[in-house]
Amino acid sequence: MKKLLLTLVGAGALLGAMTATAGPEEDRKAMIQYFKGKFPNVKFEDYVHGALALDADAKAQYDSIMEFPPYVEVIDKGKKMWETPFKNGKKYADCFPNGGKNVAAMYPMFDDKKGQVVIFEDALNDCRVANGEEAYKIDDAKTMGILLSYARGLSDGAKANVKVNGPAALAAYEDGKKTFYARAGQLNFSCANCHQLSAGVRLRSELLSPALGHTTHWPVFRGGDNLVTLQVRYKGCHNSVRHVPDAPGSTRYKNLEYFESYMSNGLPMQASVFRK
Ligand code: HEC
Repeated sequence: MKKLLLTLVGAGALLGAMTATAGPEEDRKAMIQYFKGKFPNVKFEDYVHGALALDADAKAQYDSIMEFPPYVEVIDKGKKMWETPFKNGKKYADCFPNGGKNVAAMYPMFDDKKGQVVIFEDALNDCRVANGEEAYKIDDAKTMGILLSYARGLSDGAKANVKVNGPAALAAYEDGKKTFYARAGQLNFSCANCHQLSAGVRLRSELLSPALGHTTHWPVFRGGDNLVTLQVRYKGCHNSVRHVPDAPGSTRYKNLEYFESYMSNGLPMQASVFRK
């Protein structure tokens, strides 16, 4: 694996475009510019398709699967969860503006009172707890995952709109950015090595997706029935470089999701989707 990776990615220095002093908006523009240079024929909104944006055959296959997604029953189950009242009679929709519509597009958010990043999973759990229910485990596909698959779908088509306001929020963003660019694991690879410098390169049977658009379409159904959330995917990617992963929902992964989500601002949300 290591040898394979080295031949693909080399040990090249990381992007000079993203300097430590640039703010989130400069970072985002630099990221878009970078991919525009690398893939001049890919339209901005197509980055939500991940690696599929770079492979017309795979995209055509995906399109035909998405006509009748094999996981619709799971989403229906999530809808039932979303609509079933808590014991106190209230519903999830009562916890969010607009009944939850287009809300996921604004997550992660920085919560100044809590002093930390709140991902959409946290907001759903906060809603449960405020209504006398127990929080779900963040990485439990059968509860949180299914609920997310419907709840995030309420933001389909909305443009991702994540904000970084104030010094504490900026510190969390910077921490996420650091994780993205830090080499990790026995293989000594950063997220950026694979998903920026080597985006579009084939690693074994998989085409590496660009980081731009990484956060818009979760959960995904891998192979059609394996529900995977973004936080769980982070763990998988850390495992793949033989880095001891954090737990999904850790501060580190929340900050990483905050950074990656900010990079994807302006892209249309779409949950859930098929992935290989
Ligand atoms: C050794 C290369 C490698 C490294 C390093 C790596 N990944 Fe991945 N990642 C992959 C592969 C392979 C896939 C599956 C193909 C794809 O969609 O890119 C993937 C998929 C993903 C996806 C899903 C994309 C989608 O739309 O389905 C996300 C998000 C992601 N990685 C984020 C990260 C983050 C964040 C890091 C750093 C913590 C990271 N990856 C580190 C190889 C890597």
